[in-house]
Amino acid sequence: MPLPEFLKDTDLDLALAAKLLRGGEIVALPTETVYGLAADALNAEAVAKIFAAKGRPLIDPLIVHVADLESVEKLAGAPPMLSRLAEAFWPGPLTVVLEKKEIVPGLVTAGLPTVAVRMPAHPVIRKVLWKMGGVLAAPSANPFGYISPTEARHVRDSLGEKAPWIVDGGPCLHGLESTILHLADSAGPRLLRPGPVSREQLEAVLGCPVLAGGAKEKADGEAQTAPGMLTKHYSPRAAVVLREAGAPPRLEGKFSAKEIAVVWQRRPAEKTPGAEDFWLSEDGDPATAARNVFALLRRLDGAGFAELQVELAEERGVGVALNDRLRRAAARA
Ligand code: TXA
Ligand code: MG
Repeated sequence: MPLPEFLKDTDLDLALAAKLLRGGEIVALPTETVYGLAADALNAEAVAKIFAAKGRPLIDPLIVHVADLESVEKLAGAPPMLSRLAEAFWPGPLTVVLEKKEIVPGLVTAGLPTVAVRMPAHPVIRKVLWKMGGVLAAPSANPFGYISPTEARHVRDSLGEKAPWIVDGGPCLHGLESTILHLADSAGPRLLRPGPVSREQLEAVLGCPVLAGGAKEKADGEAQTAPGMLTKHYSPRAAVVLREAGAPPRLEGKFSAKEIAVVWQRRPAEKTPGAEDFWLSEDGDPATAARNVFALLRRLDGAGFAELQVELAEERGVGVALNDRLRRAAARA
């Protein structure tokens, strides 16, 4: 069976997407971070289809996407800090974890007493949210553990018939998943996943320190409170070997140079002898590198390189999130 055409950013197509979602179907939608695989968050049967399509374990909770603050109040208790964050960063690439209300199905939160909520900025998902008049659970639209999709064709290439409806909204602006901030922790706000909104930006708006890291050890089978607690995540099939920012590639190893793709943060001044060079940006701009990283990893993985030697970014601003994803891609287990 041929795969269907993409839906487009037209009133007619977005009305169809909204109707499908209201009817309990799953639809892949662009956001400003990565493409999400969406379902009506208040319909547990629809949400179950997301887990099935991605092969995602039920212990991994989902983010609920909303169009407005009234919807947040229906889903969760809103602490005073939220209004300041919402004013500064919403709509945009920040997810907050709040105490959930009864209305949110346990399947969405993996049984946790909290729910992750985000108000996305991309016009396509915003229009669909308005048209359906609801809220959408949406993880990244990739098979569990593989590289997140930043273009519509990435969703089709890796989910195929499991995602029969995909809206094409062009490449994603940020290219990395949202920053996740835990706001229901008695110890204070805690960064669970670095993303396009940096810890420094959060601290400046909140006027207090943001605790680092969420990867507390958890007993087997308990729902995770931090994303990618499984260290391996975002993984290409090829081996990913990292090198510090500014360090030269190392071509002696178990692969011949022509099997190695050398990836730079910026266009290198000289060609690497014998190997093929690729770069994440012309000029080393970390936002551009972040926007391009998942698409480049996919392309190189598909091109059959045995090893991807990737230069890390400077560890500041969005470079922190970029390096987090690169380290996960490089983790072998
Ligand atoms: O940018 C994004 O956040 C994208 C787009 C589609 O919005 N979504 C995304 O979803 O990255 P996903 O499922 O790939 O990652 C969501 C992460 C999960 O790994 C999960 O651990 C964490 O959010 N999460 C969800 N609910 C949580 C909760 N109640 N407490 C702690 N962490 C939670
Ligand atoms: Mg994901």
